[in-house]
Amino acid sequence: MDNLQIALVGAGVMGRQHIEVIARSSAARLCAIADPGPETEALADGLGVACFADPDALLERVRPDAVIVANPNALHVTTALQCVERGIPVLLEKPVATDLAQVRQLVDACERTRVPVLVGHHRRHNPLIVRARQLLDEQALGRLTTVTAMWQLQKPDSYYDAPWRRGPGAGLLLTNLIHDLDLLRYLCGEVRQVQAFLDNGVRGFDNEDSAAVILRFENGAVGSLTASDAVAAPWSWELDAGENPVYPRQFDQPCYLLAGTHGALSLPQLQRWQYVQPGDGWHQPLLRHSEPIPAGDALSRQFDHFLAVVRGEAAPLIDAADAGRTLALVEAIERAAQTGSTYEPERL
Ligand SMILES: NC(=O)c1ccc[n+]([C@@H]2O[C@H](COP(=O)([O-])OP(=O)(O)OC[C@H]3O[C@@H](n4cnc5c(N)ncnc54)[C@H](O)[C@@H]3O)[C@@H](O)[C@H]2O)c1
Repeated sequence: MDNLQIALVGAGVMGRQHIEVIARSSAARLCAIADPGPETEALADGLGVACFADPDALLERVRPDAVIVANPNALHVTTALQCVERGIPVLLEKPVATDLAQVRQLVDACERTRVPVLVGHHRRHNPLIVRARQLLDEQALGRLTTVTAMWQLQKPDSYYDAPWRRGPGAGLLLTNLIHDLDLLRYLCGEVRQVQAFLDNGVRGFDNEDSAAVILRFENGAVGSLTASDAVAAPWSWELDAGENPVYPRQFDQPCYLLAGTHGALSLPQLQRWQYVQPGDGWHQPLLRHSEPIPAGDALSRQFDHFLAVVRGEAAPLIDAADAGRTLALVEAIERAAQTGSTYEPERL
């Protein structure tokens, strides 16, 4: 298993990022692409790999060691099941599925076949998040009490030229906030209850352009997530964390503020605040400490982890059930906003 043969299903914007990541790896190579789009053949020719319109034909003919699935959301589970039933491990883009019934189907198949699926919530692999999680595990903040998350930026109007992006189900909650909600679960623990407002007042499309969510975590912490993709503002993981160079970075602006009884942490800057003595309070200076910012690319680290999963050396950092709990949180927020009531995410 020295040079793993990786196939890609779905060679759009995200699939092409995966192609670049594979090209940088010395432990794996791309062997085939499946995508019915008109540009696939030229892309595959340029890369010198086999090309198929249909993933099933690829799986039958090429028999790769592993598959990366980056096709449209509604096809995720069907494609992942085609791989899992053939014993082929999968890196499946987020969201894991479009509803929880599909997630359960995939979880059952993974358990029955013992074939692993890693879901592409790649931010969990970012070294900044790895360090933040370590600090929280070490109780560096004491009892986590409040969580303030922001996702506030401006998408260009041209983003909405594609009609499907203006329709129900393609709003920022499932497309973008699912990443933030996954990180909040990963860092702060499971969410017990949510309340939410979703609004489309700025763009006027059939999906939300702004959101305000209130969260109560199982560990007792409370939090908020405010979001809009129609504001000229610098507070979002995309602009602040520098993960993707297509978004000019705002180095000094945070998007997550976590506060506990012994300290506070801002992300992605990894700045910590603490008093010198236990029992000190607002009359004493609150000291700020900047953690060294660890280097490393989240997508490459995710891919290296996936190779370890394929070799049987690691369990997926985020499997279908775990990603399903993030989807359940998204669904609870949608229901809370529709009804005006408090909702609990469905259990998986
Ligand atoms: N992890 C991230 O940060 C991130 C970012 C962007 C997109 N994504 C996810 O990646 C996936 C793809 O998004 P995108 O932005 O690349 O979309 P896209 O529209 O650019 O690409 C989708 C590709 O899938 C192809 N496709 C359609 N039907 C297919 C089929 N039956 N079999 C194989 N391929 C098929 C299309 O031709 C297209 O090339 C989505 O699930 C999205 O949520 C993840």
